[in-house]
Amino acid sequence: MISPRSSAGGDDLLIKSLRRSGGRFLSGSRLARTLGLTRAAIHKRVKKLRGRGYRILGTNRLGYRLEASPDLLSAARFSGPLGRPFRHDAVLSSTQEEAKSRAQRGEPEGTLIAADRQTAGRGRMGRRWESPSGGLWYSLILRPALPPGQAPGLALVAALEWARVIRRKTGLLAQVKWPNDVWIGDRKAAGILTEMSSEIGRVHWLVLGVGVNVNNAAPAKLSVPAVSLAEAAGKPLSRQDLLAAWLKAFARSYRRYLRAGFPVFRRAYEKHSLLRGRRVRCVTSQGTVEGRAAGVDEGGNLLLRGPHGLLRLAEGEVTLKGGF
Ligand code: BTN
Repeated sequence: MISPRSSAGGDDLLIKSLRRSGGRFLSGSRLARTLGLTRAAIHKRVKKLRGRGYRILGTNRLGYRLEASPDLLSAARFSGPLGRPFRHDAVLSSTQEEAKSRAQRGEPEGTLIAADRQTAGRGRMGRRWESPSGGLWYSLILRPALPPGQAPGLALVAALEWARVIRRKTGLLAQVKWPNDVWIGDRKAAGILTEMSSEIGRVHWLVLGVGVNVNNAAPAKLSVPAVSLAEAAGKPLSRQDLLAAWLKAFARSYRRYLRAGFPVFRRAYEKHSLLRGRRVRCVTSQGTVEGRAAGVDEGGNLLLRGPHGLLRLAEGEVTLKGGF
């Protein structure tokens, strides 16, 4: 049992009591009695909680009332197998680097590393990823029983689940931009960096590094225009809520992917695709190609209809050429 005299436990119990009061004031003496503390100790803890971002109204006559809680990340609301163990830091250089070294040291599948802010966030293609406070920056360790060639499709499914969660939770028309970006209209809201260690025939570990602009101002100086969910929705959103919903949805899809692979997600992916039917340019390691995006194949490769017929692209950076 948590002792109210231990500082962290006492803070939690104080918050719990304020929450349970359903928006009514609780007097200092009542809280003191409930938690077995002095009124002065309650006052001190209220001050500390305010410092942690809780908005607690206090008046001499009525006592205390919880006005708003900070948007903290906690494993308490994660249901299902992914997101445990949960490691959360206020600041990290990169959750991806932290997750990779932990994966290398044997941390289990499901481990989630999150930070409120990253000082050296990394994007795809060696780019920098701006990660100020207010966004969701996390890396998830997976150990899929898959041949390495099938692992990249998991990032497409992760992006698809983000598009679905954003639609469900905010009503915004989020779409996937091949391979694993999430866009709202003509601006990028989220990106995924996938890295893995494997041998022929077997994946040792795979780290899905996910960055979602939630309540932060979307960075202005990027190679593509960016947007945050709060900017697009016109109101702040709960990072905790979004992350819990994604973890739940992705855990189900992950199991399905291990059984059936990308083919069972192909239709849904295409339904949520930003590119389908649009004229695009794709810069690949083999050169640049242009054409009309014609969906994805059973392996998650981009299909591009160009002057020389139908191409299948396994990797590359796609830009829209404007118009349909
Ligand atoms: C992209 O370029 O679109 C991928 C961006 C991935 C950013 C995330 S934020 C959490 C994790 N830590 C990092 O350093 N990068 C990924």
